[in-house]
Amino acid sequence: MSQPLLALNDGHQIPQLGLGTWQTPDTDAAQSVSAALSTGYRLIDTAAVYENERGVGQGLIDSGLPREQYFVTTKLWNSRQGHDEAIKAFDESLNRLQLAYVDLYLIHWPAPGQDRYVDSWKALIQLHNEGRARSIGVSNFQIPHLERIIKETGVVPAVNQIELHPDFQQEELQAFHAKHGILTQSWSPLGQGALLKNGLVRKIAAKHGKTAAQTVIRWHLDAGLLVIPKSVHAERIQENFAVFDFKLDADDLKQLAALNQPANRVGPHPDTAAF
Ligand SMILES: NC(=O)c1ccc[n+]([C@@H]2O[C@H](COP(=O)([O-])OP(=O)(O)OC[C@H]3O[C@@H](n4cnc5c(N)ncnc54)[C@H](OP(=O)(O)O)[C@@H]3O)[C@@H](O)[C@H]2O)c1
Repeated sequence: MSQPLLALNDGHQIPQLGLGTWQTPDTDAAQSVSAALSTGYRLIDTAAVYENERGVGQGLIDSGLPREQYFVTTKLWNSRQGHDEAIKAFDESLNRLQLAYVDLYLIHWPAPGQDRYVDSWKALIQLHNEGRARSIGVSNFQIPHLERIIKETGVVPAVNQIELHPDFQQEELQAFHAKHGILTQSWSPLGQGALLKNGLVRKIAAKHGKTAAQTVIRWHLDAGLLVIPKSVHAERIQENFAVFDFKLDADDLKQLAALNQPANRVGPHPDTAAF
């Protein structure tokens, strides 16, 4: 199935829509990943801390697809930050995934209290130079963290994966990304499911003959964001991919913009996250 790909700042391409796997148990991961790949998804987002890289890797194998046809993201957990630990943690992720390379490796959180994210970033640059991480990026980085790694290494992340949904839009960070050629990837794009009950979202969905989830995912696509909704249910995985046959109009976008409030964060603040 044809689907949008966006250009990364390192010459590679990334599918705009992918499958999230946070809270997908390892025992369900192979089935979810297989369901996604047979639906047409070509990007799977996992992380060492999700403890499902083995299941994800099995699902990739079960799909029978050639390696170059799918895009795999995984992430360095906070307790493994620092140059040498990051390289070791990366090797462990590759082993669990049964892959020779990942398409995108991210530093999961800046964890500024540890002050090790610059050394971790240098490790990711090494992995990129070795070709074992085709692209490298970060997650949950705020503007000062991004400025620091760029200043200290000269290497701009390809992606920053951040919490973002229609009612929590992070405009300042999005503007910084746009200025520096960093793609924004939305995590908890459905607000962890809460947005699906929103009256306005449901009204706009009904107008287009679509579900609330499809409407929210379409909002991310129309905003030029990368988006990784999670589900363990095959029918929802399919539903969340059936979004390439409609577009939101200017009136929908204007109404959805009014939902945006800084208080609507569902996850921790990256500066103060307790892990
Ligand atoms: N970098 C980070 O720090 C970070 C943090 C959080 C998340 N992430 C990534 O972003 C991905 C997505 O975020 P998320 O998992 O937090 O939340 P989400 O994708 O916004 O929402 C997932 C929730 O919505 C439900 N859902 C999904 N599709 C649905 C549909 N069509 N109809 C009804 N309910 C539906 C899921 O339930 P079922 O599974 O039961 O269907 C699940 O409870 C994660 O899985 C992970 O890969 C990254």
